[in-house]
This record gives sequence, C-alpha cells and structure tokens, in this order.
Amino acid sequence: MNIVLIGFMGSGKSAVGHLLAEELKLNFLDTDELIENTEGRKISEIFKADGEEYFRDLETEVIKTLQDYDNFVLSTGGGMVLREENVSLLKSMGPVILLWAEPEVIYERVKSGTHRPLLQVEEPFEEIKKRLDYRTPFYRKAADYTIDTSKLSPEEITKDILQWLKSR
Ligand code: S3P
Repeated sequence: MNIVLIGFMGSGKSAVGHLLAEELKLNFLDTDELIENTEGRKISEIFKADGEEYFRDLETEVIKTLQDYDNFVLSTGGGMVLREENVSLLKSMGPVILLWAEPEVIYERVKSGTHRPLLQVEEPFEEIKKRLDYRTPFYRKAADYTIDTSKLSPEEITKDILQWLKSR
C-alpha cells in the first residue's frame, strides 16, 4: 500500500508523512528530497540555475520512477498537482490526501524558512494567497480526502487520516 500527501508548502506534509509512515510501517519518501539526492543540489539551486519548468520536469520524472515501488508514504512538493500528468501518476499509486491550511497559518509556518524559492519575495503573504487561490482547484480535484490542518497538530492530523483509511 502507498499513501500520497499533497498540499501547499507548510501544510504539514513532511511532519504528517513521517508519523503516518511510522504508524503504518511504511517507508517515508519526499519528492523534494529525492530530487535533491539525484541532482546533488538543493531545490533553491535548481530553481536559480535552471528555473521552475526544469524543476517541474524533475518532479514528473521522480514520480514516474516511483511507479515501480510499493509500501511508502509520499510527501509531494506543493506544486506537484499543477500538471495533469502528475495527478494521474499520483492517483495510480494510492489514495491521495490533501492537507489544507489557511493562508495565515501557512505564512506562520513558513515565514522563518529560506529554502523555498517561490516565497523568497518582497511580500510572501500576498504570494501565498495568490498561489493558494490559483492552486486550490488543482488540489481539490486531485484529492480523495481532504483535511483542514489549520488548527490541528501533526499527531491529530495523522489520527484523522488513520481513521479515514480504516473507514474506507
Ligand atoms: C514548491 C514547494 C516546495 C518545493 C519547491 C516548490 C511549490 O515543496 O517543491 O520549492 O511550488 O509549492 P514543499 O511543499 O514541500 O515546501
């Protein structure tokens, strides 16, 4: 079995993914980490040197490679669902779970980080709202289950997902 987590930056995919993997005795995988490992450089360097489209191509490549594997919880980069091809690939892996969060909450969670190139702008909160608005229909369309994480801890989110998985 595999589980796929989607959602905006700062929605809790990594924290929840680790907890879920532990509970379900699955491996934890993260598309950003896999890309950084194969490329031998940081996401921010990839964006800077080769641009966003190049990074998006790497995202598609990495989830194509994962089609041959099983027993993992996959945390995906926040922009993964922007390509329809990616959504089909993710859906063929297993249930796709959307971690949702209000823009204000996202801002609080990401504001001190410097590793997200898309948020290294003058007005990160405005950027978050703009991108979240644009992406919301993509996230909703891809998701089999959605949870609003705004007021929940990673442990609470994990519990909720485990219950949903059991109830299916
Ligand atoms: C991105 C999100 C990041 C990373 C890259 C682009 C995005 O991943 O893939 O910086 O477009 O939302 P996280 O969602 O894990 O921060």
